[in-house]
Amino acid sequence: MMNKQTWLKTIFSPTGGCRSIADAIATDMPAVRELDLSFPIAAQTVAADTPLLVVVPVYGGRVPAPAVERLRLLHGQGGPAVAVVVYGNRAYEDALLELCDTLRESGFRVVGAAAFIAEHSIVRRVAAGRPDAVDKQIAVDFGRAVLSKLAQPSENWGAEPTMPGNKPYRERPVMPVAPQANDDCGHCGSCASMCPVGAIPLDDPQTTDAETCILCMRCIEICPCDARALPEALLKGMGERLAQCGALTPKQPEIYL
Ligand SMILES: Cc1cc2nc3c(=O)[nH]c(=O)nc-3n(C[C@H](O)[C@H](O)[C@H](O)COP(=O)(O)O)c2cc1C
Repeated sequence: MMNKQTWLKTIFSPTGGCRSIADAIATDMPAVRELDLSFPIAAQTVAADTPLLVVVPVYGGRVPAPAVERLRLLHGQGGPAVAVVVYGNRAYEDALLELCDTLRESGFRVVGAAAFIAEHSIVRRVAAGRPDAVDKQIAVDFGRAVLSKLAQPSENWGAEPTMPGNKPYRERPVMPVAPQANDDCGHCGSCASMCPVGAIPLDDPQTTDAETCILCMRCIEICPCDARALPEALLKGMGERLAQCGALTPKQPEIYL
C-alpha cells in the first residue's frame, strides 16, 4: 500500500507542456520531489517505496534520446512507475511503448500510463492553448486514479497496461538544422546554460551545433531578446505537413490503467 509516500516527479520539458501536465497529475500527491531530465543527472537508485512519475514529450513518435539516456540512470527496485507522454496533436506513435519499456528495463513496475496533448513546440499554432482546462482536469483525475490504485495492496494492482506502438520503434528523424540567432542577441548566455544537450557555446551563443541540437525549442522560448528562430522555410514546410496529416483536428488524452 502506498498512499503517503513522496513521489519522484521526473520531467523532460524544454518548453513547459510536459511540466504543466506533470503538475496537474501531481495535484493530490502527498509530497513530491522533482528531477529535471533536461539537465544531466547522476546515476541513482529509486527505492521500491518511492513511486515514480515520468512525463516526457514526443519527438518524431519517440521519446527524445537524451531523456531516454538520463532515465536509464534511474535504477528501480521493483517500485511503481507512471509513464506519460505529451505530444503536439499529431501522433505519439511508439513513444509511450518506448517509455514503458525503458522503465520496465530499469527495474520499475508500470502501474499507469497516459498520452496528453500540448501546444506543438515547433509550430505553435498547432494545439495552441493545450493543455486546456479540460485536459488539466483529466490529468488531475488520472493522478487521483493512480493514487487510488496504489492505496491498494500491490497484489491488487493487476497486470501492467498494454501500450499501443510497434517494435522496432520508428527511426528517430535526423534534422541537421538548429535555431539561428539574429543581431538582437544580447550574448546573455541563457540559451547556452539552459540547452538540454549543450549545443550552444557559452562564449558564442550565436553559433549552435546542428549535429548536437535536438530542436527542443527551449532556446527560442527563453531568449530574453527574442533573437532566436528556426529558418522560416523549415517552419512553413512543417506547418503544411502537420496540417495535411490532421494535426489541426483536436485529439483527446488517452489513459491506460
Ligand atoms: C523535435 C520535436 C519533435 C516533435 N515531434 C512530435 C511528434 O512526433 N508528434 C507530435 O504530435 N508532436 C511532436 N512534437 C511536439 C511536442 O511533442 C509537444 O509540443 C510537447 O508538448 C513538447 O513538450 P514541452 O513543451 O514540455 O517541451 C515535437 C516537438 C519537437 C520539438
